[in-house]
Formats: sequence, C-alpha cells, structure tokens
Amino acid sequence: MQGPIFTVTNMVPDSAAELLRQAGELRLDPREEAIPRQDLLELVAGADAVLTLLHDRVDEELLEAAGAQLRCVANVAVGYDNIDLEAAARHGVTVTNTPGVLDDATADLTLGLILAATRRLAEGDRLVRSGREWSWGMGFMLGRGLQGKRLGIIGLGGIGRKVAERARAFGMEITYHSRHPAPPEVVEALRAERLPLEQLLATSDVLSLHTPLTEQTRHLIGAAELEAMKPTAVLINAARGPVVDERALAAALAEGQIAAAGLDVYEREPRVEPALLDLDNVVLVPHLGSATVETRTAMAVLAARNAISVLSGQGPLTPVASQ
Ligand code: DGY
Repeated sequence: MQGPIFTVTNMVPDSAAELLRQAGELRLDPREEAIPRQDLLELVAGADAVLTLLHDRVDEELLEAAGAQLRCVANVAVGYDNIDLEAAARHGVTVTNTPGVLDDATADLTLGLILAATRRLAEGDRLVRSGREWSWGMGFMLGRGLQGKRLGIIGLGGIGRKVAERARAFGMEITYHSRHPAPPEVVEALRAERLPLEQLLATSDVLSLHTPLTEQTRHLIGAAELEAMKPTAVLINAARGPVVDERALAAALAEGQIAAAGLDVYEREPRVEPALLDLDNVVLVPHLGSATVETRTAMAVLAARNAISVLSGQGPLTPVASQ
C-alpha cells in the first residue's frame, strides 16, 4: 500500500497495529524485548513516523539513520527521558508521549508497593515458600499500618494525584513537593500540603517518587536525603530508576537508616544493584507500573493516533511538554 511508513520497534497490541495499517504501511519488529541497537537503526530507516518504547534511545544517530522524511517519534510511555528533544527539534521531528492513560495503573502498582513494603508481603511469601518453620505470634513479622501516617509525594502530576487519592482512602495524610503548587481544587480535594524538600524528607512515613527523570531530578534521593528521612520511613520509586542513587539506597536499607523500600524501576535497568538483592526490606518488581492489558492497549493506541495525526497534518494530540 502507498502512504506513510509507520515503524514500530516492538510488539504492540493489535488494535494499535491495525490503526497504523489502515493509515499507511506498517513495519513492526515483533520482539517483546528491547531490540539490539543495530537492528533498531536499520528498522527505522525510511520511516515517516516511529513508535518507540522507553528503552529505545532516540538520539542524533537514530534520527540520522531514520532519514530526513521522519516527522514524528511517538513514545509509548509517559516518560521521554530516552529521547534527545533538542536533536529531535533540530531534525524537525515532533515528539509525543502518552500522558493520562497510565495514571490509574501506575498508581495501583504504587499502592501495591507501599502495602508490600510496609506489610512485608514479599518477605512473607519468600518465608512460606522456603519451607522454614513459622508460627503466628504477637511479634511475628510485624509491619506498620498506614492509617494516620504521612505520605510525601515528590511530583504531584497525574500519577502522583492518583496515588494520593488512593492513599487518602487508606487514611493517610498527604504532603507533597513539586516545582509549582498543584491547582487549588487538587489541593483541596486531597487536603495536600506543599512542603520544601527537606521538610518532606524529615516528616514522611512513606515517600513516593513521581517525578520525571531530568538533569535536575537525577539522584534527587541520595545518601544525604536518605539520612534526612525517618528510620521508620519507606521509600517508593515507580518513576525512573536514576532519580534514586541505588547504591546509597542499598546502604541506607542495610544500615537501618530507613525501614524499607519498594522499587519498580532501576538506575541501570534492567540491571539491579547487587547489594539490594540480599536485603529482605526491599520489594523489587520489574517495571510493571503500566503493565495491564487495558493500559498497554490505551498507551499504544494513543501513540498510534499521535503518529497518524502528525502525519496527516493535524498536529500531535499529546506533544511532550517542551514542544
Ligand atoms: C512510562 O510510561 O513512562 C512508564 O514508565 C511505563 O510503565
């Protein structure tokens, strides 16, 4: 079929692939895992629009390899730290992401991590499977409840707000830190108090990160910040791995500087700091924030619609923030 070429770097749900097929020629790599760099560079050659995943690095080299006809990179993710926006702008390429459609799924997963870390679910699961003897006891594997505790959120955007709504249903108080105050109706609905970072660190019982990865947020939580937290506090990261200094976190958890952590993302993903693997007080899951059938379908469909819209001259539906 004549028409624009849409290249998709991994398997995507059928409904998204079908939309692209109807709008032009679809070239798709059906692998589920990140494809090797050289294959990626060959795959994108000649594309008018590329749908990328968060592990596909979109930089000068890739944009060159794609060719001058490339007009859109539609990232199938809300985060776009894998994309060099300046290079894309130089090449006249519009970049889009998938905000909104994954907020609920990611917030659900975050609450799962909070519960798993505070109530020691993964540790308990490992104990039962180990076949070691155990018995109910008044002091056996105690965790800490959430009611009346403070959830500190860094980044009260779409996902952070959904986490806060859920946490309120668990009886938590909400505090947050972000560059700009949240809109008054959000603050009122969540009864959320905005605090400077130092105060948020010192007062949070659970600290949950929902900030994009930028040069400003890389290692936002390092040794000094972990030291400033309560010894009973729990750190949750379902944002981007490099926001936390993973080695410093492993040391803080081992030394009891904070009580526990729950991680969905990793500094050198998919590798995990080896020192974390031996610790019982950290729950580790493999970047599952948006991993539901419904959400992944919605993300891929939105990315496909963005690509189609850009190529048809109607402009992006959800351009990334700085474009
Ligand atoms: C995103 O969209 O940025 C998420 O990390 C995917 O789970």
